[in-house]
Amino acid sequence: MNHLLNLKHLSIGEILDVLDDAEEFTQGKKWDNAQGKTAANLFFEPSTRTQYSFEVALKRLGLNVVTFNPGGSSLIKGESFYDTVKTFESFGADLLVIRHSMNNYFDNLIQSIEVPIINGGDGTGNHPTQALLDLMTIRQEYGHFEGLKIAIVGDVSHSRVAHTNIEIMSRLGMDVYISGPKKYLENGYKFIDFDTAVSEMDIVMLLRVQHERHSEDMNMTKQEYNCKFGLTPERALKMKKNAIIMHPAPFNRGVEISDSVVECEKSRIFKQIKNGVFVRMAVVKRAFGGTR
Ligand code: CP
Repeated sequence: MNHLLNLKHLSIGEILDVLDDAEEFTQGKKWDNAQGKTAANLFFEPSTRTQYSFEVALKRLGLNVVTFNPGGSSLIKGESFYDTVKTFESFGADLLVIRHSMNNYFDNLIQSIEVPIINGGDGTGNHPTQALLDLMTIRQEYGHFEGLKIAIVGDVSHSRVAHTNIEIMSRLGMDVYISGPKKYLENGYKFIDFDTAVSEMDIVMLLRVQHERHSEDMNMTKQEYNCKFGLTPERALKMKKNAIIMHPAPFNRGVEISDSVVECEKSRIFKQIKNGVFVRMAVVKRAFGGTR
C-alpha cells in the first residue's frame, strides 16, 4: 500500500523521484491512470493550502473529489474518527487524504483501511507534503541540498512542518538550525540566535505561533514578538545576497513577518504554495503505484 504517512520511511531516492515528478507536472506532464477514481479529502482540522491544493491536484489528474465538512457531519453526534474514515472507505473512495490533530492518527487506521492514505498533517508530528513542497522550492532555487544552511524560526515545538523538515533536511545534508522564543524550542536540535541566523543562513523559514495548540498564553504582545523574532524589512536587508525567505503559511503579517516582507524579492512564500499543487499531483500518482 503506497500510503504517505511521514517522510522518515522514504529513501532519499524516493523523495527525489517525487520532486522530479512534481517538476514534470509543472511542465504540463500528463498522467491519467487514476482518472475517474474517487478521493476523499478528510480534514478534521482547518486547512486552506493543503486541503484545496489537494483538491486542485486531484482534479487535474481526473479524480472525483469528495470534501468532508467536520462541522456538518455526524462527528457532532459523537461518531468516532475511525468510524468516519471507515465510512468514506465504504463509499468506495480509492484514496483518503487525512488531516487530524492527533499525532500518528494513522497508526490505528492502517491496520484496517484498505486504500492508500496520504497524511495532510497529524498534530505536531508530520506534514510530509509541506516538507516536499519546501524541498521542491529550495531545489529550484539552489539546484542542490547538501551544505545549505537553514534556520527554522518560531514555534518549533508545536510545528509538524518543523519536525518533518528537520528530519529530511538533515538527511539530505543540509545544516539545520532552530531559533525563536526559548519556550517554543526543543532539545536535540542546533540553536542559533535569530539575528545571527538572519545574516548567515541561505534560507530563513519562519513559523506561525500555533496558539490553538498552547495551554498557556504567549506572554508577549504581537509587537514584542515582531521586535524580537519577526522578519522586519530592516532584518531582511541583512540577509545574504542570494538568501531566501520561506513560510509554510498561514502567516501573521506584523508578527513573525512584517507586511512588506511577505512579497519582497527574497520571499518564496507564494512559490511554495504554487509548488504545493505539483507536489501533491506527484504524491497522488505515487499513491496509485505510478512509477517514474
Ligand atoms: N501550510 C499549511 O499546511 O497550510 P494549511 O493549514 O492552510 O493547509
